[in-house]
Amino acid sequence: MFDVNEIRKDFPILGRTVYGKPLVYLDSGATAHKPLCVTETVAQLHNQLNANIHRGVHYLSAEATALYEQARERVRCFIGAAEREEIIFTSGATASINTVAYAWGLDNLSAGDNVVVSEMEHHSNLVPWQQIALRKGAELRVLPFDDEGRLMTERLPELLDNKTKMVAVTQASNTLGTCPDLRPIIDAAHAVGARVLVDGCQGVVHGGVDVAALDCDFYAFSGHKLYAPTGIGVLYGKREVLEEMNPFMFGGDMVDSVSFERTTFAPLPLKFEAGTANFVGAIALARAIEYLEGFDVSEVAKHERDLLDYCTERLSAIEGVKIYGTAEAKCPIVSFNVEGAHPYDVGMILDKLGVAIRTGHHCAEPVMTHYGVSGMCRASFAMYNTRAEVDALVAGVERAARMLR
Ligand code: ALA
Repeated sequence: MFDVNEIRKDFPILGRTVYGKPLVYLDSGATAHKPLCVTETVAQLHNQLNANIHRGVHYLSAEATALYEQARERVRCFIGAAEREEIIFTSGATASINTVAYAWGLDNLSAGDNVVVSEMEHHSNLVPWQQIALRKGAELRVLPFDDEGRLMTERLPELLDNKTKMVAVTQASNTLGTCPDLRPIIDAAHAVGARVLVDGCQGVVHGGVDVAALDCDFYAFSGHKLYAPTGIGVLYGKREVLEEMNPFMFGGDMVDSVSFERTTFAPLPLKFEAGTANFVGAIALARAIEYLEGFDVSEVAKHERDLLDYCTERLSAIEGVKIYGTAEAKCPIVSFNVEGAHPYDVGMILDKLGVAIRTGHHCAEPVMTHYGVSGMCRASFAMYNTRAEVDALVAGVERAARMLR
């Protein structure tokens, strides 16, 4: 049985107070808290097993290496990849996407080509493509969303042609919460010979993914939104695509042999893991995944959907509150504004009441531009949030509206 009160005991930070008030943390879309099993794993690794991986014959190094490679296998299973060589550990989704933009984009984009991104991408899945396209003389095309926050997939035929080399799209918008139907997008992109990168930062947390079934060419996500530490992320790539790509970063562990005349590179996945890998982060990510897999996915989804619906219903009932993003397929993210009030002011009033939300452009400025606003307030939920926390948010927003409108 899914019992949120039991789950909350796994997250000690949820018991702390701010300004003498119980913390109500509604910013898990920015970073999620970590269960004790994850923080204990990190401490244990540092206290008992600190040794560089893939580099030593000694006991600790071998043990750390084995755990790191087991972590890769756990990630592989978690996202449904066919082979361990398709899982590359990075420092986060931004590094994963930049790896593709540079390692794939520099060699595969030419003047006259185009890259398609959606209008709802956060900067991590927009700016790398914009910059690589600029450098290569390629065009950046944008798949728009409508005012409800629904991605206008029907506009794809206008955007895709035989010069489209990459379609980069989110699994779930970090601002609107929208979960676009990826199937037709991926099929249409493949039909013109383009590759597809799916940004799974928010999506992987709320329902997971099966990359093989999705048939995307690349998939990126961060650990820190998935109850794991910061500084660890994953890039999935289809093996045949990764094999053809040149490395992006050069250094230790990604080489086969090195002389002053010539360097040959290690096989996948190490070809893309230059330098000392964040083995502590990778092993802790595997622990976070194990923790998450201890729950029934459908029960977690049901709980998060209930929070989303309850929050939407209660905020909508406040006079002057406008919610952005009302697509049916949504992850538990509610962005809103209070008419006549600046989102920072709303956020600061909520903060003083112990309620943590995100305010600003949410690293998705084009979404703000779409609605003609400079910023929004955003409540984002995780499996450990409760209806009582929604009530605290609503009470705070009502108070802010009274003070500021
Ligand atoms: N991309 C993160 C967010 O949505 C930081 O807040």
